[in-house]
Amino acid sequence: MRKHIVAGNWKMNNDLIQTETLISELKQQTKTSDAEVMIAPTFTNLWHAFESTRLDDIEVVAQNMHFAENGAYTGEVSAAMLKSIGIQTVILGHSERRAYFNETDEALSKKVSQAIAHDMRVIFCFGEELSDRKSGRQEDVVKTQLVNALCHLKADDYKHIVLAYEPVWAIGTGETATPDQAQEMHAFIRNLFRERYNDAVADNLSILYGGSVKPDNAKEIFSKPDVDGGLIGGASLKAEDFYAIVNAF
Ligand code: PGA
Repeated sequence: MRKHIVAGNWKMNNDLIQTETLISELKQQTKTSDAEVMIAPTFTNLWHAFESTRLDDIEVVAQNMHFAENGAYTGEVSAAMLKSIGIQTVILGHSERRAYFNETDEALSKKVSQAIAHDMRVIFCFGEELSDRKSGRQEDVVKTQLVNALCHLKADDYKHIVLAYEPVWAIGTGETATPDQAQEMHAFIRNLFRERYNDAVADNLSILYGGSVKPDNAKEIFSKPDVDGGLIGGASLKAEDFYAIVNAF
């Protein structure tokens, strides 16, 4: 089902005490919109965050996971491990994972399958680089990323998938895609799934926008018909700013 979602990607920020503090500040905020709220703390704080938000309208999600069931993958975390502490959703394919940790479309397609095999929900990230946009190749690049990582899935698997279009040039830069640029790409993406699958898959997909979403630009971006929410980095680290974005719907 297509839903409004606002997810905070905390990245490698906040130790245990800072996580506790931010969660208690988040709990003091009031939600006036229908958006689902998610936060993604780092692995070491997931369990604590999960426990402290059990009774709240906040879902705690992971920033990454490995594609294997278990085994000799030093430093990695499996889907089963996440599930065992109550985590139901994982962010996969963030551009920082792709750029700094060499995550390929092939590895991501295995991760997506593994998450679905564990009945998890995936927030799948993708987006073009500045050079792609400058040369007008943004739709081709996005299409390739999506087809390579997702198009092995069956139509029914898409109930597990949330998409997050994040143009790399807009992440952490203060430069946002204009609401029209976001809408244009989101419509292109929805249409891609309509062509590859069917109307139900396309119409039920939640497609989030990410890249320098802030309290002062969220409303305009979220007003676009194919933008179903946001994946928020920097602004998710301040409770008031994050809820101003959540309430922008
Ligand atoms: P940003 O990050 O909001 O700080 O640009 C977005 C993201 O990386 O998901």
